[in-house]
Amino acid sequence: MKTKIAVLVSGGGTNLQALIDAQGKTLLSGQIALVVSNNPDAYALERAKQAGIPTAVVTKKACGSQAAFEDRLKSLLNEHGIELIVLAGFMTILTGSFTSAYPKRILNVHPSLIPSFCGAGFYGLRVHQAALDYGVKVTGATVHYVNEIPDGGEIIAQKAVYIEPGDTPETLQRRVMEQAEWVLLPQAAELVSAGLLAARDK
Ligand code: GAR
Repeated sequence: MKTKIAVLVSGGGTNLQALIDAQGKTLLSGQIALVVSNNPDAYALERAKQAGIPTAVVTKKACGSQAAFEDRLKSLLNEHGIELIVLAGFMTILTGSFTSAYPKRILNVHPSLIPSFCGAGFYGLRVHQAALDYGVKVTGATVHYVNEIPDGGEIIAQKAVYIEPGDTPETLQRRVMEQAEWVLLPQAAELVSAGLLAARDK
């Protein structure tokens, strides 16, 4: 049986789309079995529906607390038999009580070369703004395992992207997505998913 993957999202879902496309081209042997958003208006939910993938919305507000939010996520993941969790633009921090339940089974894509421009407060366009403010000439993306330290888990893959004269956070974000994230995330998900399958079938 294929490795069942859940993708957790909050926004546009272009990284989710890269995973869906990889699955369509059989570059992803795992099966995206669930998409969960903490934002009911995320366009990522539409992308999942168009691909026929079950979706769920879980918000901290509705759950009442971080602990209840994480418990709800865990129940959903259990109900769907999820073995691997991919954070693809999931803009909320998960505590150690959640991450320790899935050791080396949660991946995240971050839009910089960790350890630069990462950790609490560095997400989305803010990461690219920080890279431009600092004046680095090279940035990129990182896929890493998720533990209790924000952006602190073991690195799986990285890809560098050049900053160009006149870049804005928006143009840089787009180039990092096109050249790095959309390539790296499906590759890393496949690597980990195939590894889990091999370990299960031993
Ligand atoms: C992506 O650039 C992703 O790396 C970043 O948010 C964007 C989501 O775009 N994630 C973080 O900053 C997490 N710290 P998407 O919804 O189109 O995939």
